Parts: sequence; structure tokens; C-alpha cells
Amino acid sequence: MIDFKNVSKVYDNGTKALSNVNIHIDKGEFVFVVGASGAGKSTFLKLMMREEVPSTGSITIKNYNLNEMKKREIPYFRRNMGIVFQDFRLIPKMTVYDNVAFAMRVVGAREKDIRKRVPYVINIVGLSNKARNYPYELSGGEQQRVALARALVNNADIIIADEPTGNVDPQMSLEIVELLKRLNEAGTTVIMVTHAHDLVTRFDKRVIVLNSGAVVADGSIESGDELIQESSHLLTNSNLNVGDKFSNKNKPAEEKEEGAEQKSKRDDDAFYDALLGDNDAYRVYLENEKSDGENAEEKGGEES
Ligand SMILES: Nc1ncnc2c1ncn2[C@@H]1O[C@H](COP(=O)(O)OP(=O)(O)OP(=O)(O)O)[C@@H](O)[C@H]1O
Ligand SMILES: [Mg+2]
Repeated sequence: MIDFKNVSKVYDNGTKALSNVNIHIDKGEFVFVVGASGAGKSTFLKLMMREEVPSTGSITIKNYNLNEMKKREIPYFRRNMGIVFQDFRLIPKMTVYDNVAFAMRVVGAREKDIRKRVPYVINIVGLSNKARNYPYELSGGEQQRVALARALVNNADIIIADEPTGNVDPQMSLEIVELLKRLNEAGTTVIMVTHAHDLVTRFDKRVIVLNSGAVVADGSIESGDELIQESSHLLTNSNLNVGDKFSNKNKPAEEKEEGAEQKSKRDDDAFYDALLGDNDAYRVYLENEKSDGENAEEKGGEES
């Protein structure tokens, strides 16, 4: 289902983030990705979600060849995925409810379904009492759970989660991984980066260990893989800075003519650009939504 063949990634500034990664992940697997800060874990995930492209090597996910994927195809490809970003990427001007609902709106869900599904998912992550709050009014752990809710809301086939438990207490961490495990048991493929050694040992799943951009172990702790057991020192590097401080300003908005039939495509682009930190695209999306809403009945429905 997910295939990395001889994949290397060198960023524009010359940083070698991944080297010669060969990984196959089957549909329905649950995979932890571990390794020290800077080992290449987020890069690995960003290649998977086609936020970055490999410098060399090829990536195939389902029937998609990511090397050949055109920009306009990316939103459709990402519909297969629920993504929890390491830095959350919540939309600041939207409430918790709307941040989660937004993910459904851009894939064309009906307001009726949104009104049912969003409160349900917000409840799952324990934030029912915060549904009308804005991201800046939430703790880091609460924001992280909004990001998780948004990743779950569309019932994606693949969940890609970059340290989804990085900001919550140990009990909440367990609950989040239990939740991902349940989804996995129902057929969802889950790929999760973590620094938490106790989670990796407690949930006996496949572990991919990255070290300086290379896969140095791939297996399970229970199977007695020594490298994976030894790799525990790579986990929980609390003295290291874990922030993702890279700007995404190298993504110019494309100007193009579009007919009405391309509106949903444009909305998708706006959504994903917004998720990728392009707030101009998000602002344009909101303006479009507002003017559309003036002609439509279905608007602002978060009443229950
Ligand atoms: N956009 C970028 N431009 C240049 N270098 C980058 C970029 N993103 C990541 N890097 C570098 O690539 C290497 C791998 O980074 P990555 O974010 O994948 O690490 P990580 O394993 O996710 O680390 P952490 O645990 O701190 O999140 C690091 O040396 C990092 O500095
Ligand atoms: Mg990272």
C-alpha cells in the first residue's frame, strides 16, 4: 500500500534528511516511527503526504505514484489521509467546531452530516466543552486533540500522526493511542511518530527506527529485535528542541482561470494550503465562502 524505494531527501539548503529509505507498509498496519530529534521522522511523513517530494527514489501509495503527481491532484490524494501535524496547523480564526467541520466541508459533506459527525468526533477527543472556543484559548494538549479530531472526522483510510501525544499527559497519551488502535482494528492504516518509549513498549506494534535519515531497524520489540530495544535511547530526548521551525513560504498561490465546476477543487486547494500554513489562501477561502453563503440557506449551522 505504501512503498518507499531508495528514497532520499536533501532539502534546498543542503540538509540530508533521509537517505536511501526502503519501506513497505501494508494496508491495515500500525507503525510507530521513532528516532532522535532531527532523525528525519517528520520528513518521512511529509514525503508520504506529498508535502515534500523525494530528491531521488520513488514513492507509491495505493495507486498513486507520488513522483508524478500533479499539484492539482494532491487534494484528491489527501482525501485518503487523516493528518495530525507536529505543529497542529489549526486555523486560528475558527472555533474548535469549525476547525473540525472545515475538513468535512471541503470534501463536500452535507451540513446535515457535519452536524452529526463533528460533535461526535469532538466528544471522542474529550473536547465537547471547548467546541466553541478558539485555538488560542486552548492548552497545547487541547489543540493537539483538535488536530486529532480533524484527522479522524472524514474516516480516512490512512492516519498519519506526527507526535500526536507530544503535548498531553500520560493518561491522555494512552487514550489517544488506544483510540488509534481501535481505528486500526477497524481497518485504518496508522503511522505514528512518537518519542514516548513507554507507548512503543506497551503497544506491541511494528517500529521503524530512523537515525540520521537512515532506517536502522524495522520490527517489533516483542520479537526481540535488539536494534529496536537498543534504540530506546533515541526516544525521549527531552533536552532537544523538537520544534518544526521551517517556513512554508515557498508555495506561491497559482493564478488560473476557473469555471464553476472547478469550485470544489479550488476549495480543496484552499483547505490544504491553509493546513500547510498559507493563510492568504485561507483568507481567500473564507471570502469565497462568505459570498457563497449570502446566496445559500445552509450557513453557520452548528446548532444542535
Ligand atoms: N524545510 C526544511 N529545510 C531544511 N532542512 C530541513 C527542513 N525540514 C527539516 N530539515 C532538516 O532535516 C532533518 C530532519 O528533520 P525532521 O523534521 O524530519 O526531523 P524529526 O525526526 O521529525 O525531528 P523532531 O523529533 O525534532 O521532530 C533535520 O536536520 C532538519 O533540520
Ligand atoms: Mg518531527
